[in-house]
Amino acid sequence: MGLYSHFLVLCLFSVSSVICQVTEFISIDCGGTSNYTDPITGLAWISDNGTIMKYGKSSEAQISNGNMQYQRRRDFPIDSNKYCYTLGTKERRRYLVRATFQYGSLENEDAYPKFDLYLDTTRWSTVVVLEAARVYVKEMIIRAPSSSIDVCICCATTGSPFISSLELRPLNLSMYATDFEDDFFLEVAARVNFGALSKDVIRYPDDPYDRIWDSDLAKRQNYLVGVAPGTARINTSKHVDTRTREYPPVKVMQTAVVGTEGMLSYRLNLEDFPANARAFAYFAEIQDLGGNETRKFKLQQPYSPDYSNAVVNIAENANGSYTLYEPSYMNVSLDFILSFSFVKTRDSTLGPLINAIEISKYLKIEQKTDSKDVTVLNALRSLSAESASANEQGDPCVPAHWEWVNCTSTTPPRITKIALSGKNLKGEIPPEINSLEQLTELWLDGNFLTGSFPAISNLLNLKIVHLENNKLNGPLPKYLGSLPELQELYIQNNFFSGKVPSELLTGKVIFNYEHNPGLHKEAGKKMRLRLIVGISIGTIAGLLVVVIGSLLFLRNLKRKTSHQKNEVQGNSLRASTKPSTAYSVARGWHMMNEGVSYYIPLPELEEATKNFSKKIGRGSFGTVYYGQMKDGKEVAVKIMADSSTHLTQQFVTEVALLSRIHHRNLVPLLGYCEEENQRILVYEYMHNGTLRDHIHGPASQKRLDWLARLQIAEDAAKDVCRT
Ligand SMILES: *[C@@H]1O[C@H](CO)[C@@H](O)[C@H](O)[C@H]1NC(C)=O
Ligand SMILES: *[C@@H]1O[C@H](CO)[C@@H](O)[C@H](O)[C@H]1NC(C)=O
Ligand SMILES: *[C@@H]1O[C@H](CO)[C@@H](O)[C@H](O)[C@H]1NC(C)=O
Ligand SMILES: *[C@@H]1O[C@H](CO)[C@@H](O)[C@H](O)[C@H]1NC(C)=O
Ligand SMILES: *[C@@H]1O[C@H](CO)[C@@H](O)[C@H](O)[C@H]1NC(C)=O
Ligand SMILES: *[C@@H]1O[C@H](CO)[C@@H](O)[C@H](O)[C@H]1NC(C)=O
Ligand SMILES: *[C@@H]1O[C@H](CO)[C@@H](O)[C@H](O)[C@H]1NC(C)=O
Ligand SMILES: *[C@@H]1O[C@H](CO)[C@@H](O)[C@H](O)[C@H]1NC(C)=O
Repeated sequence: MGLYSHFLVLCLFSVSSVICQVTEFISIDCGGTSNYTDPITGLAWISDNGTIMKYGKSSEAQISNGNMQYQRRRDFPIDSNKYCYTLGTKERRRYLVRATFQYGSLENEDAYPKFDLYLDTTRWSTVVVLEAARVYVKEMIIRAPSSSIDVCICCATTGSPFISSLELRPLNLSMYATDFEDDFFLEVAARVNFGALSKDVIRYPDDPYDRIWDSDLAKRQNYLVGVAPGTARINTSKHVDTRTREYPPVKVMQTAVVGTEGMLSYRLNLEDFPANARAFAYFAEIQDLGGNETRKFKLQQPYSPDYSNAVVNIAENANGSYTLYEPSYMNVSLDFILSFSFVKTRDSTLGPLINAIEISKYLKIEQKTDSKDVTVLNALRSLSAESASANEQGDPCVPAHWEWVNCTSTTPPRITKIALSGKNLKGEIPPEINSLEQLTELWLDGNFLTGSFPAISNLLNLKIVHLENNKLNGPLPKYLGSLPELQELYIQNNFFSGKVPSELLTGKVIFNYEHNPGLHKEAGKKMRLRLIVGISIGTIAGLLVVVIGSLLFLRNLKRKTSHQKNEVQGNSLRASTKPSTAYSVARGWHMMNEGVSYYIPLPELEEATKNFSKKIGRGSFGTVYYGQMKDGKEVAVKIMADSSTHLTQQFVTEVALLSRIHHRNLVPLLGYCEEENQRILVYEYMHNGTLRDHIHGPASQKRLDWLARLQIAEDAAKDVCRT
């Protein structure tokens, strides 16, 4: 697009406006295998292979009319998706957009393709292939609504949708301007060159805007029939001045038909009519009239009081012969079958004459999906560049919605559902999500999302929210409990912390918040009751365990020194696991609301440890580094060895347990960090061990003792998990 605006700048200084026009043409040979220059027109065609269109496959047309761009076509999958070409435009500039379809294959003769063509969200036409060899041409005149347009193919009812070529032609200034262009496109229904010298169409380079002017000699069913007797073809080689609004090509104006018996009439079918239309008639006197000769006529059919009473005198109206007179009809209601006729007035010596006509249907521009919603979807897509959801094309809702969204059927459409479960999304949930007011379902579970709980306070229609299995942290917003429609909220396996809003625990909402190490219930009335019951049972069980545990623990204390000696000799610390287990279990019953550790981001730890520079210990469990947090607190940072074999789930559980177990023999856990397969635990650093350690034994052993206790604490947690 930058490319095209660059050309535009060049063009302002360019002498030849025709050359300028051409450099801005976009000509895509759909299904084409290479880029090439058309030898007849000199236009550059580019293949859509790969870069422009990633979907579908290129197929050869068995019958083709010789033009390069019809020798191959692109076939799209038969599914519920839409396939779109995005073309760069300059906002508010007028363009001709043309899509062509030549099937060219005799296969499936009984079910030739039938599918829909869209321009942005506006249904342009239904392409119905009836003859394999015919080129179906769809043209639209638009004033570009934004900096790009999408031409989409979808919704096949038979066969597989396909396209042969796609062209974009900028128009000059006010060509084809209408009073209705804010709300309507113009779908070209007929463009006829009367008195044509051959059956060939006239287009570029004869028409610098590359409109296609059909020859009136090309006979088709219900096309230009009912020709009045005495209709004669005339031509001239003299120049015709066509510098009026629509600039029809001189070659088209050099031929005409005349009604030698006083009348001209034609009948033709207008596809997709009845409708309101914009119609143009192109007249130029190309006969040299004698002094006593006059040519005056009126429009007889279709009858319109505004136009039918006006007398056309071409040379007078155009102020001279060989000059274009171009009356146009801004808004005329036409039937599917158009019959039109001109008759000479009584005082005219010559019959009517016409050089060309053009008829276009007004097509209501359909609104695109709310732009705020599109912004959110694009932000979400950018969180996972490589996944298929990032590649979906065109409008999110119309004509077919993207696989991962659902929409309202309102105008403009709004997003009701986002389904991006397990799509490898990384990063923070975009805050703009709060503007999706019609959202009812949000599925972002099973990704790698970080940051805090998304702001969703405006999403009053929200029913189902799935954020489980991510890396989200921070507190839950209070308003969650008062979202009126909320039915289901899943946030398990994250790092949320703080208190759970009590409204979520009333049972009205299905609420799963397990495995959020820092998250805890507010001790509401109900909760307190449950706790009391739990604790009572717990106490009895606990007492038993404590009795047994204490015995074991005492025995363990006696053994401890010998274990530490083993460690010095390089043995595993796991020998000390068993006895402490029982003790931890016993402690576990009292743990619930205290000592919540928090998530510490990796960069913070890197800073605290000066990039893990001061190693203070190492064991089978991992390496421990010294660090100092911003607030001055000294910490021991343990990077767990063998992180691949630790399941995330288990790590989270360990953190949960460790953070709640407090005992003077266990080292307090302050926080944890889990990033890129690294699991890190942060403990309070014990200066040269405890006082007791100072009394007994040398300094090196004291630290070991402390390190050993790191392992004890952890193993205790693991054993609790397993039971
Ligand atoms: C475009 O319009 C301008 C102004 O009316 C005119 O001078 C110029 O020749 C037109 N360009 C072409 C290619 O007809
Ligand atoms: C065709 O031209 C387009 C646009 O200039 C370019 O992106 C593409 O790579 C070309 N393809 C081939 C096959 O040369
Ligand atoms: C591009 O062309 C190559 C061979 O020329 C073909 O294998 C490939 O499928 C084409 N890609 C698309 C998207 O049509
Ligand atoms: C063009 O007009 C001349 C007479 O002016 C005529 O002889 C000739 O046949 C016409 N050509 C066509 C193709 O109609
Ligand atoms: C054309 O005229 C009809 C009837 O007067 C009107 O309803 C319509 O809005 C006008 N414009 C278009 C673009 O159809
Ligand atoms: C017009 O004038 C010419 C002579 O200039 C004459 O031959 C012709 O018959 C006249 N035609 C009519 C309709 O009067
Ligand atoms: C009509 O053309 C004549 C010369 O051909 C010129 O003098 C006159 O100004 C023109 N009138 C209009 C209204 O353009
Ligand atoms: C999309 O929403 C409509 C109602 O708006 C519903 O009928 C349809 O089942 C939904 N489709 C999916 C795939 O969720």
